[in-house]
Amino acid sequence: MGISGACRDLTILSVTPAGPVGGQHGCYYLEFDNPGLAAAVAGQFVMVRPACFGSDPVWPRPFSICRLTAERLTLFVQACGRGTDILCRLVPGDAVTVWGPLGQGFGLEPEVPTVMLAGGVGIAPFVEYAATHPAPHNLALLFGHRQPLTCYPFAELAQVAARAEAFEEKTPDDLPRFIELLEKTVAEYAGGLIVACGPRPFLVTVARLARRYGARAQVSLENRMACGVGGCLGCVEKNVLGQYVQTCTEGPVFWVEELSLSEDA
Ligand SMILES: Cc1cc2nc3c(=O)[nH]c(=O)nc-3n(C[C@H](O)[C@H](O)[C@H](O)COP(=O)(O)OP(=O)(O)OC[C@H]3O[C@@H](n4cnc5c(N)ncnc54)[C@H](O)[C@@H]3O)c2cc1C
Ligand code: FES
Repeated sequence: MGISGACRDLTILSVTPAGPVGGQHGCYYLEFDNPGLAAAVAGQFVMVRPACFGSDPVWPRPFSICRLTAERLTLFVQACGRGTDILCRLVPGDAVTVWGPLGQGFGLEPEVPTVMLAGGVGIAPFVEYAATHPAPHNLALLFGHRQPLTCYPFAELAQVAARAEAFEEKTPDDLPRFIELLEKTVAEYAGGLIVACGPRPFLVTVARLARRYGARAQVSLENRMACGVGGCLGCVEKNVLGQYVQTCTEGPVFWVEELSLSEDA
């Protein structure tokens, strides 16, 4: 599979904390002016490397395209480590190299009832998905989260999708109730289309439920990536045949039946 997308030196337009939390593990919207990137399919991603990374960290970091128009690229980033902490402390005017859109995005079937299943920052690609969906009356969202709801672009999505439900996991004891809700939703959309993005355990559960109900479901993996363009094998995932596939070029979005998708992979 060939390398797609363009490489651009962009400048930061704004870095805005999402909701009241900010700080450590807070989420931020990063905006870039006139990105000059080709139109994206929701679920595609960009690799991002601020000039100030220097030689540490060496590698760029991957982020879903939260929103891309001719005028603006928006990323929704959780500060959770070295690279993201640096990114979320950038200021307007800082230089960042961005390349993309990369990878394979979500399927979009306007006439088919579709549910977006999102966990935490996995909500990011669904902003673009909902914004570009031609029939939002066929679109629903179920969102599981730990931080306050205002830390995520939930309200924005709830305005577009016909149905939107959020479930806050305050303690680990809430998890079984969330999984029950996921199961009910997967069963309801078994004849439609399910698109999911979130942490790996969440996606493993979605895949298990989709298999149980014979549902058509796609999951977007957040495997660690180094090059983002098929050159390093850093991002591989096992498929059902036991072969390794590159998530950066063949994914990050896969049909669940393509993958073995186990917790320990
Ligand atoms: C296709 C794709 C799309 C993504 N979209 C988004 C997005 O829209 N918003 C967002 O906030 N994040 C997204 N991520 C995850 C993001 O790339 C990582 O959080 C980031 O690379 C971590 O870099 P760091 O230097 O801050 O972390 P490090 O300092 O390198 O690591 C800190 C901690 O984060 C963990 N970590 C590192 N990389 C990942 C990863 N890929 N997934 C989960 N945990 C990781 C490490 O295990 C470690 O515990 C996406 C990842 C992929 C592959
Ligand atoms: S990140 Fe390098 S091959 Fe996928």
